[in-house]
Amino acid sequence: MCCNIPFPLIRVHPVCMLERAWPRHAAKLEEIEKLSHGTPWSLNGFLNEMANRARGSRVWLSVAKDRKDLTGYICFRLLPDEIYILNLTVAQRYRRMGIGRFMLTAALRYGLRQGIRRAVLDVGDINQPAIRLYEGLGFRFVVGSMMKGQVVMVLDF
Ligand SMILES: CC(C)(COP(=O)(O)OP(=O)(O)OC[C@H]1O[C@@H](n2cnc3c(N)ncnc32)[C@H](O)[C@@H]1OP(=O)(O)O)[C@@H](O)C(=O)NCCC(=O)NCCS
Repeated sequence: MCCNIPFPLIRVHPVCMLERAWPRHAAKLEEIEKLSHGTPWSLNGFLNEMANRARGSRVWLSVAKDRKDLTGYICFRLLPDEIYILNLTVAQRYRRMGIGRFMLTAALRYGLRQGIRRAVLDVGDINQPAIRLYEGLGFRFVVGSMMKGQVVMVLDF
């Protein structure tokens, strides 16, 4: 394993748990999303991912919750050889508490249990908080993104 942080050490977060997203979460996801992204996913986008999951798609959407609040969410697709991170967002008031790292490593561990040892994502080339999070886990830049202003990062673990 070539990650800086061994996954087993960060299996839990002191206050947050990760659980599957359901339609009752969608309005809150939309609210956080609008405040966090220049091109936010729509309410229907979230609902569609949930509906597709119920039909057996390989896209997972999970929410992080503390005792009273939804603090963030992660969406990823399991491909045969890689886990592709589609969305990782933490609500503004809960940032810098380790929740982004917790959600991401939980997704990576899930992939690992399926025998997947590579993670891929696109990130805005000036999104320093996200890039630092990914670099801290061992992600590296690779050439070429289909999207302008985005870079691709990969982690082999
Ligand atoms: C990127 C994002 C998910 C990080 O979530 P987070 O819960 O705040 O991150 P964590 O607390 O787990 O931070 C983990 C590490 O990432 C880095 N990091 C996170 N936020 C940072 C910031 N604002 N500035 C510098 N480094 C930062 C640090 O190395 C941090 O470790 P440290 O706190 O021990 O120094 C969050 O800022 C966010 O939702 N941003 C808006 C949406 C977005 O850009 N998503 C990513 C799309 S690719």
